Amino acid sequence: MGSANVVTEGRDRVRRVACPGSFDPVTNGHLDIISRAALLHDEVIVVVGANQSKQGLFTVEERVAMLRDVTSGLKNVEVGTFRGLLVQYCKDNDISAIVKGLRAVSDFEYEMEMAQMNYRLAEIETLFIAANPVYSFLRSSLVKEICRYGGDVSSLVPELVFDQLQERLGSA
Ligand code: PNS
Repeated sequence: MGSANVVTEGRDRVRRVACPGSFDPVTNGHLDIISRAALLHDEVIVVVGANQSKQGLFTVEERVAMLRDVTSGLKNVEVGTFRGLLVQYCKDNDISAIVKGLRAVSDFEYEMEMAQMNYRLAEIETLFIAANPVYSFLRSSLVKEICRYGGDVSSLVPELVFDQLQERLGSA
């Protein structure tokens, strides 16, 4: 009878995980996942991807500043940036797993692809947290669009982010 392939090494390590994303800007949905990840792990590093594929509404520095502000009450959460491959950042910073939120089935295919590739590349695990259904429709691009055309996004983002969105986009 064959025995299961059980991995037992590394059990005593600090559980440092990464919550990566674009965060342009951070929403209440992101905060829900970050705070729940912080309850489950020793350290959570929220990392803003700084690869220059597309221009955001906010600069990477502005996104980091907003994230630092809205996570300041979470003592085991830090905010940083990364360039290049996420798995390389994880290796360099002794991060054992990536934590992502799953909102709906529509997220699944994309997230699964990245999770499997990241494991294949560097044996970095991905852990999924099921989004609070209250936020299952919430994404940064929708928030920006609603705000651009004068809709009310005050219940979807932290107050500081709401103020910055008003300043940047106003009501069209
Ligand atoms: O908020 P997003 O846009 O879903 O974040 C995507 C992000 C930044 C987490 C993802 O694009 C990423 O990890 N980019 C880094 C480049 C990389 O490692 N690519 C290989 C993924 S298998």
